[in-house]
Amino acid sequence: MSTAPQKGTVYLVGAGPGDPDLLTLRAARLLATADLVLYDDLVSPEVLALCGPHTERASVGKRCGRARITQDGIHALLIDAAHRGLSVVRLKSGDPLIFGRAAEELEALRTAGIPVEIVPGISAVFAAGAAVQVPLTDRNTASKLILVAGHPASHKTPPSSRNPADPEAESLLWTGPLPADATLAIYMPGRSAAAIAEELRRSGAPEDLPCIAISQVATPRQHIAAARLANFAGIELGLTPVLILAGYAMGALLPEN
Ligand SMILES: C[S@@+](CC[C@H](N)C(=O)[O-])C[C@H]1O[C@@H](n2cnc3c(N)ncnc32)[C@H](O)[C@@H]1O
Repeated sequence: MSTAPQKGTVYLVGAGPGDPDLLTLRAARLLATADLVLYDDLVSPEVLALCGPHTERASVGKRCGRARITQDGIHALLIDAAHRGLSVVRLKSGDPLIFGRAAEELEALRTAGIPVEIVPGISAVFAAGAAVQVPLTDRNTASKLILVAGHPASHKTPPSSRNPADPEAESLLWTGPLPADATLAIYMPGRSAAAIAEELRRSGAPEDLPCIAISQVATPRQHIAAARLANFAGIELGLTPVLILAGYAMGALLPEN
């Protein structure tokens, strides 16, 4: 497993949430020795600083949905670099297989016959649990952990054009009633706490559901805000990236406790 990076191979590597101490040893070794690192916007400068002196690096981020490079463009860069015999790290924040467009990249690389290794990373949800020091599962309150994307791009109807009063309207987060014994981790929640609160209500969440917004977890800029759903619309989400945890397991973080 811990061999030097192979020429002509692409390594799909998880960069974790930001703190370089939360990288795997495998990820750190690959960053230090690969020929080329192609990284996303959310990868922290502290992690990129671990790239070796002979490692070329390039951003392939698509900040705020405004594409500087298309997904097909990323595939072309990866395939071209591997065909040129380079060892390539494709560095993604958190874990590369969680909300990271990995399916498309893996398919393109496999179709091109390029060997791939996947190096897992600490996803934002696990860093968030560690930051707030509350278990994501709890034998009294949460027997399920559900990861969902709140980003409107992954849904057919943008929140601004949906009618919250329409029971037939598509739910952003969940279809059917939300399990009471679940912790819900909402990735890419958008910039509006009010919109997320409304989506939770539409998914059947009760007004007393504890909700936590954790901004820039595992960085010096980390910010945590907690409220029950009834008051969540009024909280300050903090700077992006933000992850939301909702569920009774988070109750210990509420100001009244
Ligand atoms: C495109 S997804 C990538 C998720 C990533 N693959 C992972 O496993 O964490 C980006 C979303 O992950 C969450 N995220 C990533 N890093 C974060 C951080 N340091 N603090 C809070 N949320 C983070 C946010 O919800 C952000 O909108």
